[in-house]
Amino acid sequence: MIELTLNGEAVQYTGDEDVSLLSWLRSDLNLTAAKDGCSGQAACGACLVEVDEKAVLACATPMKNVAGKNVVTLEGLPESLLQTLGRAFVAKGAVQCGFCTPGFLTRTKILLQKNSNPSRAEVEKELRFNLCRCTGYVKIVDAVLAAATAMAEQKDTPFEERPGIGVSSPKFKAVERAIGRKPFVDDLRFEGMLHGALKFSEHPRARILSIDISEAEKQEGVRRVLLAADIPGQRNSGLIVEDWPLMLEVGEVTRYIGDVLASVVADTEVQARAAVQKIRVEYEVLEALTDMHQALTSPIKVHESGNLLGEKIIRRGDSAGLLQRSAHVARGTFTTQTVDHGFLEVECCVVIPQDDGIKVFSQSQGPYRERDEIAHQLALPESQVEVEVVDCGGAFGGKEDMTVQGHAALACHLLRRPVKYKLTRPESIRMHPKRHPTSMEYEIGCDDKGMLTGLYARILGDTGAYASVGGPVMDRAGTHASGGYHFEAVDIEARSVYTNNIPCGAMRGFGVNQATFALESLIDELCLKGGFDRWQFRYDNALDIGRMLAPGQVLTASVGLRETLLSVKDAYDRAEYKGLACAVKNCGVGNGIPELSRVFIEIHEGGKIILHHGWTEMGQGVHTIARQALCEATGITDIDLVTPYVSTASGAIGGPTTASRGTLLLGRAIIDAAKGLKEDLKTQSLKQLAGKTYSGEFLCDYTQADGKPGEIISHISYGYATNLAILDGDGNLEKIIASHDAGRILNPKLFQGQIEGGVAMGVGYALSETVPLQDGRLTSEKYRALGIPKINNLPEIEVIGVESNDPEGPFGAKGVGEIGCIATAPAIANAFCDYDGKRRYSLPLEPIKKK
Ligand code: FES
Ligand code: FES
Repeated sequence: MIELTLNGEAVQYTGDEDVSLLSWLRSDLNLTAAKDGCSGQAACGACLVEVDEKAVLACATPMKNVAGKNVVTLEGLPESLLQTLGRAFVAKGAVQCGFCTPGFLTRTKILLQKNSNPSRAEVEKELRFNLCRCTGYVKIVDAVLAAATAMAEQKDTPFEERPGIGVSSPKFKAVERAIGRKPFVDDLRFEGMLHGALKFSEHPRARILSIDISEAEKQEGVRRVLLAADIPGQRNSGLIVEDWPLMLEVGEVTRYIGDVLASVVADTEVQARAAVQKIRVEYEVLEALTDMHQALTSPIKVHESGNLLGEKIIRRGDSAGLLQRSAHVARGTFTTQTVDHGFLEVECCVVIPQDDGIKVFSQSQGPYRERDEIAHQLALPESQVEVEVVDCGGAFGGKEDMTVQGHAALACHLLRRPVKYKLTRPESIRMHPKRHPTSMEYEIGCDDKGMLTGLYARILGDTGAYASVGGPVMDRAGTHASGGYHFEAVDIEARSVYTNNIPCGAMRGFGVNQATFALESLIDELCLKGGFDRWQFRYDNALDIGRMLAPGQVLTASVGLRETLLSVKDAYDRAEYKGLACAVKNCGVGNGIPELSRVFIEIHEGGKIILHHGWTEMGQGVHTIARQALCEATGITDIDLVTPYVSTASGAIGGPTTASRGTLLLGRAIIDAAKGLKEDLKTQSLKQLAGKTYSGEFLCDYTQADGKPGEIISHISYGYATNLAILDGDGNLEKIIASHDAGRILNPKLFQGQIEGGVAMGVGYALSETVPLQDGRLTSEKYRALGIPKINNLPEIEVIGVESNDPEGPFGAKGVGEIGCIATAPAIANAFCDYDGKRRYSLPLEPIKKK
């Protein structure tokens, strides 16, 4: 028996002494403020607790190590201290998804009790063990310093309370998130809840000869072992192509190491995982196709339809002729690596029985599509499947595809019990789609005055085992192959191919990051060849009103790219070693796909408002923007009256939350719905309107996939950016200045946070991030091996906002969710070359040669 003090009370523990402190807190005691971000790998700090006044990683601390100790979790802190810390983090914009925040709060509390007035450098040093994937850490440091001030002055950090847009309204429910009270999916508890675990394929490509579940079924606590034959409906699902089976059957050939062969449902997660170990699978191991360059010629067919998933061909003008006649030409073949989203909250889903159907609590970026896919899998009418979105702990595109949701739904449907399925960090790395690795052959030219002429690009992306959105990702690489510049002619082919690697799909930037790395590197090469100034060359060729994107769309409004270049010019001129890169990114899916956003504004007792919409809060702040937009459009002054809610039961269609379109589409729908409410508010109070519902929608149905240059409208709107990377005299990355055209900035702190986080992701893309994958297998399952930057791996980040007032956007705004990370890697690559003269053709970049 172990005796210890927990949150001021003497307690005893009599279980397995090797069980982690985190597991005991979360599973046995239901103290869920400390989070599980890395499954005991001691890599993220989300589980941080205080033990004898020291910061301790609860996931890596066995119970035997806390015997006789004094353990304090956030649940044990005085309410006033919690609120002071939480409010400081929210006021400074340090809480995005909030999954990391309880760990950072614990770190802050321990730091401030040792050092009540730390310097910025001391704070940065103290935070180097905690990982945040969303923020870029700038605002977390601001928050710790604000917390120190608040505690010294015994006065909470003030919020910006004005209603409407243009204000840094505090993030919706962020204090509750920060102090660990607002639950994530893994924090949900239901009476009688069972737990599931998955049996994955041990080989990227192998024929399944048999699956023996007899031993697994006999294990303690096991309620059922599920196989493909147990799926009552359609086995395959997929965002665009239905090629991804929920589970594979005996006789079939696996396509990657994340294929699921069986799943176990048991009373506890530990029991389910133990039983999975007892499932015996016989395989005939087959040669796997893991080189994307061989995909189109290999006799191995990953899918019967062949290995070509999609291709985008754009030919406009005589590119070959122009290149031949160009005064200067630069060419090269560039490669980029596979990258994991690394969201701190791993995949988790809870499903409960509801009437004749089920209710799914999901982190999904696309609840309506998820409802439909689950209904098809279970052969249920869509009306019997409700998906409620639980605000998630980061996604970045990685929670668009289903992972555990179908398995949890199947188990709940068959057993009529609440069921939770959660991946471990190694399983998350193994299973969910990644950022595409690419190979890009590029050639660009310019005339003797430095005006761009022709562009040639052949882009190949490895989409792995299943389609996900690999087709559109490579499509977007193709349509954005000309980056932020006007070319007279383009010749672009972009293809996505199947292999037996982990699937690749949506990730922040959606193919544009890769193409921009290649293009911006060659822009610098052209400047070197022609002796052009790198800033001026970009300015002269930059997209502007009247200029044309690669597919031929002529820009007519809200093109702030040149302003972003102007805003970094002084810093560019002053810096000795520097790299520039520009970027453009579509807002909205476009390409001829109608995009609908619908909202319902329900007025309740006391004038409280439920704002039903269909967009996923994943840290970017869509709920907060929705509340601000509603207040702005109606004149409502008390933002706290407005509660956003996302469930498919409402019919407020919106998602998937992707393509930097949430702000734009949701904002327009809110403005539409607000008209009626505003009118009624002229004669009645909100309280008097209780019982009324106002609906509104926005449909964008005028984009095209193909069309004549000069006439085509590929997307409703575009964001623009310039990044300047500055190195110090020793070649260290000192600073990134990220200047962005956001149309109109609706919430300055949210805007800055999106860009800072995007830049941090871009720095990781440039310098350290990769997925350790070889021959279709992971060579490491460690979170650390993904190379995600911590605070000590990042330079100073400065964000500049440029406003261009987009006529399509709500109040002139456009989305900034993705573009923040697109220009960073090429800017760093160009800075490295500026320093040591070596052009780099691959990401992550070869380290700099110090002088
Ligand atoms: Fe403990 Fe990540 S959960 S360090
Ligand atoms: Fe830090 Fe999301 S706010 S991981």
